[in-house]
Amino acid sequence: MTSPAGPGPGPGRHILVCGGAGFIGSCFVRDVLARRDGTRITVLDVLTYAGNRANLAPAEADPEQAPRLSFVRGDIADPAAVGPLVARADAVVNFAAESHVDRSILGPEAFLRTGVIGVYVLLEAIRHETELARAGERRTAGGRPMTAPRLLQVSTDEVYGSVEEGSSREGDTLAPRSPYAAAKAAGDLLVGSYRATFDLDVVLTRGANTYGPFQHPEKLIPLVATNALLGMPIPLYGDGLQRRDWLHVTDHAAAIAFVLEHGEPGAIYNVPGGTERANREIVAALLAALGRPWDLVRRVPDRPGHDRRYAMDGARLAALGWRASVPFAAGLAATAAWYRDNAGWWRAIRDAGWDDYYARQYGARIAAGEPVPTPPGWGSTSGAGPTVAVAAFPSVGPAIELDGPEDLGA
Ligand code: NAD
Ligand code: TYD
Repeated sequence: MTSPAGPGPGPGRHILVCGGAGFIGSCFVRDVLARRDGTRITVLDVLTYAGNRANLAPAEADPEQAPRLSFVRGDIADPAAVGPLVARADAVVNFAAESHVDRSILGPEAFLRTGVIGVYVLLEAIRHETELARAGERRTAGGRPMTAPRLLQVSTDEVYGSVEEGSSREGDTLAPRSPYAAAKAAGDLLVGSYRATFDLDVVLTRGANTYGPFQHPEKLIPLVATNALLGMPIPLYGDGLQRRDWLHVTDHAAAIAFVLEHGEPGAIYNVPGGTERANREIVAALLAALGRPWDLVRRVPDRPGHDRRYAMDGARLAALGWRASVPFAAGLAATAAWYRDNAGWWRAIRDAGWDDYYARQYGARIAAGEPVPTPPGWGSTSGAGPTVAVAAFPSVGPAIELDGPEDLGA
């Protein structure tokens, strides 16, 4: 087993999780607390439309886990909220972001505030604590000396831009093409600059498209599942042949915990899912899993600047000792079943403030939408077409020789 390079979960460890009420952050919180290893977690989350205390309910309802979890409602761009919390943390994991490409096209400003100013405020707090630690003045409330906190910044494959062929490596040039991806890339560059200038203990992960339970219904997989369950039209952007690499949320959260513990200071780690699919295959598989007809699908005008394909090389993380373990077909089927069985969770979201967004995002496009010809092999338009299920696409490209691990600020 790889030796620890940083403060991962463990007895006596205190992790500040920013954005921990969202989709991936709450999975990280639930899964780390469920290890029952004594790790304490403070969640700092401003609870945007995407933040949801209900995502933390399983941990809050567990008598062993609840005392190890604290929740603070606050903004990562607010130094007064961030400073005292970073002061008590062994590590900070930053999930907080505006995370939806379509919303970044409707209104980019919030993306920049959290993705740039928010990351800067976190870095300044880490820098302050690092200086205290270097002076021997960083202490617990009980007076025990503390080392400098590690920051793990959660980033995305979208910073590499559209990858027509092959797969992105950690040292590749960033080429973001949406305001969301540009804000994330700016955060990555800021983290790198603080590594180069102040020698902070920072690591960065770039995860693939993530799916699983508790994902806000604005994203492709939960949107298709919930619209299908409601019998509503399913918007397929353009030709539906855009390709994404899919990573189950428990794998994504586990990779982040692993990099927090084992990642080399200053290194970036891609976290691929190893499962590349065209969007229309995803839609077909979900409709089949839920027993809903293909004729719900509508071809709608494409997203402006739509990235055609994402794919990452995961050799560096594999060399560190981690790879994804949830098989896509099983993970997708379980996710479809979760949305079928947890209608109360997503109906509460789709009841509150959803209609305005949906009308803005989809109203005119669905009206302009056209039926999509039934894929070959689909049994009938009135029932499931299990033979469509999920075609196997080749996975990511060949492994390539590794660079040294120091990317940030190098
Ligand atoms: P999400 O939208 O479900 O959750 C984001 C959380 O951050 C919410 O709880 C929200 O309330 C909180 N938040 C937003 N702004 C904040 C602020 N200023 N201060 C404090 N909290 C704030 O997003 P997600 O899908 O869980 O993504 C989490 C992270 O992972 C993001 O940084 C995203 O860029 C990255 N990522 C996501 C995916 C994906 O497919 N979902 C893939 C790769 C990387
Ligand atoms: P999304 O879940 O928004 O993730 P991202 O844009 O960050 O990859 O979308 C995944 C893919 O699905 C993307 O190519 C856009 C497409 N898409 C649709 O075709 N219809 C939809 O209703 C949504 C939300 C996405």
